[in-house]
Amino acid sequence: MAGILGFGGYVPERVMTNDDWSKLVDTTDEWITSRTGIKERRIAAEDESTADFACHAGSRAIVDSGLTPGDIDEVIVATDTPEVYTPDTASFVQTRLGLREIPAFDLGGSGCAGFVQALDVARARVALSPKNVLVIGVEVITRLIDWEDRATAVLFGDGAGAVVIGPERAKAEVLDVVAGTDGSKAGILTLTTGGTHRPFNAETLASGEYKTLTMNGQEVFREAVRRMSQATTEVLANTGKSVDDVALVIPHQANKRIIDAVRKKLGVDDSKVYVNVHAYGNTGSASVPLALSEAVGQGAISEGDLVILTAFGAGFHWAAAALQF
Ligand code: ACO
Repeated sequence: MAGILGFGGYVPERVMTNDDWSKLVDTTDEWITSRTGIKERRIAAEDESTADFACHAGSRAIVDSGLTPGDIDEVIVATDTPEVYTPDTASFVQTRLGLREIPAFDLGGSGCAGFVQALDVARARVALSPKNVLVIGVEVITRLIDWEDRATAVLFGDGAGAVVIGPERAKAEVLDVVAGTDGSKAGILTLTTGGTHRPFNAETLASGEYKTLTMNGQEVFREAVRRMSQATTEVLANTGKSVDDVALVIPHQANKRIIDAVRKKLGVDDSKVYVNVHAYGNTGSASVPLALSEAVGQGAISEGDLVILTAFGAGFHWAAAALQF
């Protein structure tokens, strides 16, 4: 048995609206709102970076669990925008939160599916031997995107979310998690420069390609709808539940139109889908845990509720979790 002991979320103070973006690139509030549902997003302050965000959300989740940093036995950080290239962000979190000399590692590269994948790893680790695992999803994505590329830059925002997973039901039981990958679609959403295939060098730096996210928006849209719906159906079947049993679906907050399409495909009522993409944009791995901690904080989830998390990300990866509150 694995359960959620506590929740935490963090967003920076600086708000950037669609009108702010329209002063920097050739776009409008109308274009962004009608295509994505995003109205504003948060931007990291100059002196903040990924480890700061991860620590804020992580320490809130520890406090919410009624635990102390000394009670944490393992840390998993899901991020595509790490503090530095090496070592991983989890190393910074281990020392800055004052944790013991415990296993700490990142799960990186799977984009916005990272947190739900990390949840799957955490529940397996807890099932193997009872322990408290801090799971964080975090991105400071606006630091790395191309601010001149209107087709991608306006979609993203910065944030972090976290949970503590432990060997008891506490606030919610993790009933099941499913995950999958179709690597043949790696090219539909990718940042190709900076790895061994195409390292940083004078040429890639001068061309600016190191910050250019290649995205086939329409194919990502189609795959996102297909895979988030499929993963939700699968996790419900595995737990012997139906869509009618679901109290709330918390999907990855990439785009309101994607969320609406998933909702329709699943046949779920509007009131049963949590949406905050208008306020934060796409915060990558942070999106699901941030929405989860916000939903809990707002009282949108009651005891006895069945909550589904569902996400997709570059890879192409997808994952869904069933939580019994
Ligand atoms: N403002 C104004 N015009 C723009 C902007 C902008 N910010 N960005 C692109 N355009 C233009 C394009 O250049 C294009 O112009 P053209 O027709 O003259 O060539 C036009 O708008 C239409 O572009 P499309 O790509 O056809 O627009 P579409 O309706 O497909 O919407 C969008 C684009 C919002 C990106 C959509 O495809 C989408 O949401 N896809 C999924 C994207 C996504 O969620 N990605 C996930 C990111 S990472 C993750 O979550 C794992």
